[in-house]
Amino acid sequence: MRPVTLRILALLFSLAAAFPAFAAGGEAGATGYWKRPVNVGSVMSIESLYPEKCAKCHLSQYEEWKGALHSKSAGPGLLAQLDPKADPQTAGSCYYCHAPLVVQSEVIAGENAPNGSFDEKLKLSGVSCAVCHVRDGGVFGPASLNPGGFKIGVKADHVSLQKEFFEKAEFCAACHQLYEGFDLNGKLLVNTYAEWKESEYGKNGVTCQNCHMPGRRHLFRGIHDPEMVKSGVKIEVERTAQGAHIGAKLRITNSGVGHYFPTYATPLVVIKGFLIDAKGNVLRGTSKEASIGRKVNLDLSKEIFDTRIAPHKSYEFDYVVKRPVKGGMLVFEVMVFPDEFYNRFFKNAVKNHDPAMKKAELEEALKNTSGSGYLLFKKAIPLKDLRAPL
Ligand code: HEC
Ligand code: HEC
Ligand code: HEC
Ligand code: HEC
Ligand code: HEC
Repeated sequence: MRPVTLRILALLFSLAAAFPAFAAGGEAGATGYWKRPVNVGSVMSIESLYPEKCAKCHLSQYEEWKGALHSKSAGPGLLAQLDPKADPQTAGSCYYCHAPLVVQSEVIAGENAPNGSFDEKLKLSGVSCAVCHVRDGGVFGPASLNPGGFKIGVKADHVSLQKEFFEKAEFCAACHQLYEGFDLNGKLLVNTYAEWKESEYGKNGVTCQNCHMPGRRHLFRGIHDPEMVKSGVKIEVERTAQGAHIGAKLRITNSGVGHYFPTYATPLVVIKGFLIDAKGNVLRGTSKEASIGRKVNLDLSKEIFDTRIAPHKSYEFDYVVKRPVKGGMLVFEVMVFPDEFYNRFFKNAVKNHDPAMKKAELEEALKNTSGSGYLLFKKAIPLKDLRAPL
């Protein structure tokens, strides 16, 4: 049983036929740059496309990319679900974003024939340098900001062709936006580019690159990085005493995320409020919880809730203290689970001994996604301070 895969696959196929824009990468494909599978041409040798080869002259970009998730996109979570030889269509639908080069695919797209130019190592490099920079034997990049800035003595062994497209949000939309048909409860499953475009950032030309590649650095930090998340949200706590009641409110504002916080259905942000006594023990029955995110069920057929925060909007969490204790405190905690959906998905596959999944990869994926949660915010307020006049 491969519920998610199958549904995405069905959608992809019905879509490629119905919406040629999607097949060509939507708006981004207007230039043809993101036509898939991506052809790198025959001028360069396959080895010269390995990120380690680019690193010889572009070490900083390599190290940043290596520390980011694009370098891990052909990881165990993806590989566990695929059997490219037996089911090339499913694999192809995923490689579309996770490893889109012709040479990254075992099978020739649309045919069941083995691909003679397939390279395993390049496949495992996922969304690597060549995926974004190499087309038809040439290396493409943004207009140079600093033409003389390379170390003297290092000569490019490639011709570089400059494209303004690299500085546009449409460049990222190729994989961070889906189009009509991929929806659930009337909303697209991946809608980052459109969310951005409608926001103040889209209107003022603050691009994905401005926030995710500051100074052209290849950091691509997102929900998995606590500092990145802190840079995009403001968390405030205020007293809410009313009559005899005492309490407090936690407010999370999307103050600097260029799209919904979070944009995908995969993460979940969990807010908790609870009381502790003077010794720090949690008082039973005082815990209250709320979640921010778009929670969907495992086969993507149902949306359970959607509490994501649009740019410049806030989410409020109220806590009323029902039984004040002497010397006690009210504690607020905000936890981020970047892989909540996939963790649930992998757990379910392990539990059901899903025969369609590769066991070793599945266990590794389960382990990776089980440990990725982190504490974003914590504050303890003495109850006596809640009683002070406002
Ligand atoms: C032998 C050293 C060397 C290797 C290997 C190399 N490059 Fe370069 N690259 C350079 C130099 C030098 C420049 C700057 C001069 C120029 O623009 O031609 C450059 C420029 C670039 C640019 C900027 C182009 C622009 O217009 O702003 C990109 C992007 C790029 N390389 C990507 C890559 C990728 C991807 C690889 C691996 C497939 C790679 N390079 C391999 C030396 C190298
Ligand atoms: C997901 C797509 C993506 C991947 C993967 C990627 N790059 Fe880039 N790269 C870009 C974009 C977009 C820019 C331009 C950013 C901008 O102008 O704000 C860029 C810019 C560059 C530049 C020009 C830097 C400058 O200061 O002018 C070089 C060189 C480069 N990349 C090399 C690499 C190398 C080497 C790798 C692999 C280790 C790599 N890139 C991986 C998208 C990518
Ligand atoms: C060829 C497809 C492709 C392109 C183009 C692409 N991405 Fe990605 N991106 C992915 C995939 C696939 C992942 C997930 C990798 C994983 O976790 O396995 C990802 C992950 C990310 C993440 C990390 C999300 C997290 O959960 O923390 C960020 C941030 C990101 N991309 C930003 C960008 C930006 C900005 C651009 C444009 C400069 C871009 N991407 C272009 C495919 C792409
Ligand atoms: C439209 C682009 C796109 C397509 C098509 C796509 N993915 Fe992804 N995938 C992403 C992005 C972006 C992320 C990171 C954000 C997230 O976690 O949702 C991701 C994350 C993942 C992850 C979690 C991170 C990891 O690497 O373990 C898995 C597993 C995954 N995708 C599997 C698949 C499978 C299987 C398919 C094919 C049925 C597929 N994806 C098709 C873009 C895509
Ligand atoms: C104004 C800054 C800003 C802009 C513009 C921006 N982002 Fe983000 N992005 C963030 C911050 C901060 C986070 C971390 C919080 C979060 O996950 O929502 C993030 C998170 C992400 C993630 C992680 C997944 C998730 O569920 O949140 C992806 C993928 C991503 N951005 C892609 C993009 C793409 C693609 C664009 C352009 C269409 C873009 N971003 C524009 C600031 C920005």
